[in-house]
Amino acid sequence: MVLEQDAIAGLQKLDERFDACFIDLLNVFPSEDVTRHAVELCLERLEGGALLMADNALRQGEVVKPSNQQAKNVASYNEFVARHPRLESVVIPIRDGLSVARVKD
Ligand SMILES: C[S@@+](CC[C@H](N)C(=O)[O-])C[C@H]1O[C@@H](n2cnc3c(N)ncnc32)[C@H](O)[C@@H]1O
Repeated sequence: MVLEQDAIAGLQKLDERFDACFIDLLNVFPSEDVTRHAVELCLERLEGGALLMADNALRQGEVVKPSNQQAKNVASYNEFVARHPRLESVVIPIRDGLSVARVKD
């Protein structure tokens, strides 16, 4: 099934549960709040053992000292995922960084 629509609006309409969620939008969310909302919508649809992943987790190193909105969004995503009690996570330094988090059982 392929749904072509705004990610936030689309997620809100999905009642299904998933084994994995891949966020390829860290570079384009308008704010940290929208980024957080997207993560929470994903988490609500993931059971224990599922994976939450996101590309561009390093933003070419900008996350170390975020000075623009997109870098702030990504830094905020990384912080949220690292601190979330339901998740154990790592950022794999492939290309622009791949964040992989496993939902605890
Ligand atoms: C930013 S690109 C991913 C880049 C990729 N991670 C890389 O490093 O090459 C993500 C795509 O999502 C689309 N997109 C942007 N905002 C969106 C939204 N709110 N919902 C769904 N797709 C969106 C953009 O058009 C773009 O083609």
